[in-house]
Amino acid sequence: MVVAQQDARPAAEVLVWSRSLLDPALRDAVEEMPASMRRIAAYHFGWRDDLDRPAQGDGGKAIRPALALLCAEAVGGTAAGALPAAVAVELVHNFSLLHDDVMDGDLTRRHRPTAWTVFGSNAAILAGDALLAAAFETVASAPGPAVRGGVQTLSRAVLDLVEGQSADMAFEERSDVALPECVVMAGRKTGALLGAACALGGMFGGGTREQVTRLRAFGERLGLAFQIVDDLLGIWGDPAVTGKPVHSDLRNRKKSLPVVAALTSGTEAGRELAALYLADAPPDDGEPARAARLVEAAGGRSWATRRTGELLTEALAELALASPEGRPAEELSALARLVARRDH
Ligand code: IPE
Ligand code: IPE
Ligand code: MG
Ligand code: MG
Repeated sequence: MVVAQQDARPAAEVLVWSRSLLDPALRDAVEEMPASMRRIAAYHFGWRDDLDRPAQGDGGKAIRPALALLCAEAVGGTAAGALPAAVAVELVHNFSLLHDDVMDGDLTRRHRPTAWTVFGSNAAILAGDALLAAAFETVASAPGPAVRGGVQTLSRAVLDLVEGQSADMAFEERSDVALPECVVMAGRKTGALLGAACALGGMFGGGTREQVTRLRAFGERLGLAFQIVDDLLGIWGDPAVTGKPVHSDLRNRKKSLPVVAALTSGTEAGRELAALYLADAPPDDGEPARAARLVEAAGGRSWATRRTGELLTEALAELALASPEGRPAEELSALARLVARRDH
């Protein structure tokens, strides 16, 4: 008997499908949290507004859960079997966002005021902690043989993320950041969790060790590309689309990847940018726009675009080496292209 192969869906459709599987389980996990933390998490996820009334806010793109679910299918498992992995990576991601907005002092995320500006920094940090605990609880309580390795994979990703965030903050104070160390920082703060999302999907889908290794490498390359695109959007993105402030990185004189590519370019524009970044005085209103022009003139924008394309190619090569099933492989490729060429 010939079984008709389901057609591959476009990435946008995959994200809607993944969101529909994810949301009930994510809400259940948040439901278990203490009431004070639940309220902040519900606001952050867009389920309730600042006055605790039901809302339908933007909960994010949920890229990581989609990767986990598709990677499970790619190794012959089911999306349902990888749901705990999908929930866990989204919980870890949101833990990191709650803390990141405090660290970066950002006022807007997902088109609304950041949680710390509504509830205070202490409460937002604690809510992030609660999401992190919920993530490990979710993996630890899952059925099947992938739990032990799953907990390890998740904890290593969290440690990488913490180290990456630590370097990100430390770089703000340094004037000698080299491009390779900046790439390592971005790989840790963002690549590690996308890698873990894919590895966890492979593990909960019953994949072989080799497949899990390849899927992790796919996610790590993609995650680095994702962070470069995020850095570009932080300079040239439209806040009406991204839901995040533009120029916040430049105002904070952050050593994001396009900025470090420009600073280390050996060009006149790179030297002017370094002088701007080194100034003692806090940035005036015109500085971010001037810095953006200098990043572009020094080749930081073109470096970032080129590197994103290369990373996408590398990611897709790793995916192919995982010998994935046809339909999920096509959908993972489509998702990877969307992530690396995001126009929002
Ligand atoms: C933002 O992540 C932070 C980065 C690691 C680049 P996302 O762009 O995935 O955030 P949401 O969940 O869609 O809002
Ligand atoms: C991304 O941080 C990495 C983590 C949150 C761990 P960024 O500071 O670059 O991300 P956005 O732009 O605020 O979402
Ligand atoms: Mg930030
Ligand atoms: Mg940050």
